[in-house]
Amino acid sequence: MARAQDTGRGPARLRSRRDLLAEGVLAAGALAATTPLASAERSRTRGLPKRSPAAPRDLVSHGRFGLGVASGLPQLDGAPLWTRVDGIDRRGRIWLEVARSPDFRHVVDRRLVEVRPETDFTVHHLFDSDALGPGEELYYRFATRHESSPAGRFRTSRPPDSREPVRVAFWSCQSYQSGYYTAHRGLAHEKDVDLVCAIGDYIYEKSGDKDGPRTDPLPNAQLLDEYRAKYRLYKSDRNLQAMHAAHPFVAIWDDHEVESSYYNETEGNRQGATPRIPFPKRRENGYRAFFEHLPLIRFRHNRDRIYRRIPLGRHAEIFLTDLHQYSPSASPDCSGTPSAGPILLGPCPNATAPGRSLLGANQRRWLEDGIAGSSATWKLWGTSMMLMALDSANHWTLDIGEWSGWEWERNLLAENLHRRGVKNIASFSGDIHTYFAGTWTTTGRSDGKPVGPEFVAGSISSYTIAENFKQNGVPEAEAALLVERLPENNPHLAYVNSTRHGYALATVTPEELRVDFRSPTSTRDPNARVETLARFSVENGNPVLKVVS
Ligand SMILES: [Fe+2]
Repeated sequence: MARAQDTGRGPARLRSRRDLLAEGVLAAGALAATTPLASAERSRTRGLPKRSPAAPRDLVSHGRFGLGVASGLPQLDGAPLWTRVDGIDRRGRIWLEVARSPDFRHVVDRRLVEVRPETDFTVHHLFDSDALGPGEELYYRFATRHESSPAGRFRTSRPPDSREPVRVAFWSCQSYQSGYYTAHRGLAHEKDVDLVCAIGDYIYEKSGDKDGPRTDPLPNAQLLDEYRAKYRLYKSDRNLQAMHAAHPFVAIWDDHEVESSYYNETEGNRQGATPRIPFPKRRENGYRAFFEHLPLIRFRHNRDRIYRRIPLGRHAEIFLTDLHQYSPSASPDCSGTPSAGPILLGPCPNATAPGRSLLGANQRRWLEDGIAGSSATWKLWGTSMMLMALDSANHWTLDIGEWSGWEWERNLLAENLHRRGVKNIASFSGDIHTYFAGTWTTTGRSDGKPVGPEFVAGSISSYTIAENFKQNGVPEAEAALLVERLPENNPHLAYVNSTRHGYALATVTPEELRVDFRSPTSTRDPNARVETLARFSVENGNPVLKVVS
């Protein structure tokens, strides 16, 4: 979908992503392997750009850009641009070049940026320029004296009154060893994506999944260098690099960026590992590596804050939340309840105890007031955990590791939003490694008043529930059958798929929110292609989703 530019400046039409790919623009390896990009990769500039000013004495001469490039949340006149230089051991400077054309003939600016050992040689440069206006398509790359990075692309943000359609992808759960990043390659090729939101488990602190197609040699991250090594391993994947090069990116963490099921400074599930440092220090290490290796600019006065609102023109605003840093209450104490694979079987009365909170009071107030006060047509909430209840035939809660373990806060928030008459809210979540779509209500169940649809994307590569059961000796088909019968006891669910991986792609227009579940046919075949699993539509003013196909 090519869009008309509505900035009042520049050409009247932006080229579509398809045009760009055909031109062989985005020189990232995975794309290069499957598109005409191969020639672009071969011919890209090596090292110092031509026509550069004299090289300074501290220009980095060697080193490689082995983790590619990435762009963060676009601004009206720029964007945060990220890379990492491998193979150097001291501070220095590298070139950053931003251009209007993919061949870098029409350069907007070329500037020197610093690389420092304190940030593991990662670079976060907030590029802005008076020469730029809203909605402009731009290309960027970094260079040492002898090496050039692959090129990335970003678009400056839309003006607040933009009426253009908005397209946002949501995904979670990116275990490296469990599968190839075939979904990421598909996502890199999606057209006109305004933003990719990773909503949890960008890394896994423990290399747990067995029998995957790849190996994670880093058993359990606790020290800073171990978390950094995790990001380097994950980001070495060329399909992930291609996704970052193609689209602006933002992320929130779930638990595995530090430790499974931790809350605040309370340790979670060690999964058999012996602690080597106090948990608060471990959390600090996990947070630091997260910010170093993703294209995020930290809040100046609240450096570990990740919750934020992201306006995307007149019709969409995204709210992203943090369910781990501020939660005063750990997982519900359901001691004595049996557990099967990733699903914890209730009953668990503590889940409804008043005061139990994931968000913490301040973030909850910020979220409720933000959504209620937003002037955007559609309010999209990215929450790392699933909101809707999952009940068994005997009314036990099945998933207390999700929002169902914090029913009091979930339902309070839903009641308040309903009472305040907020229209057109949709939530996007993950973590449970299963695709679900349904209606989020004031009780979490079909007996409540509908607040909005919820779209739960399956894991992008981590084992699905069915695959996890298989690891525990339960046949995959049997597990899938168990999960796919859930709507019988949970009529608020309209769709379930427990065997596939992928992401959710939301397209927002004034009249409609459309969501496609996009999934590779396999994460074990590196050449698998992405297809559409299901399509949903939500009409302006009606909180109940429609399954289109
Ligand atoms: Fe996960």
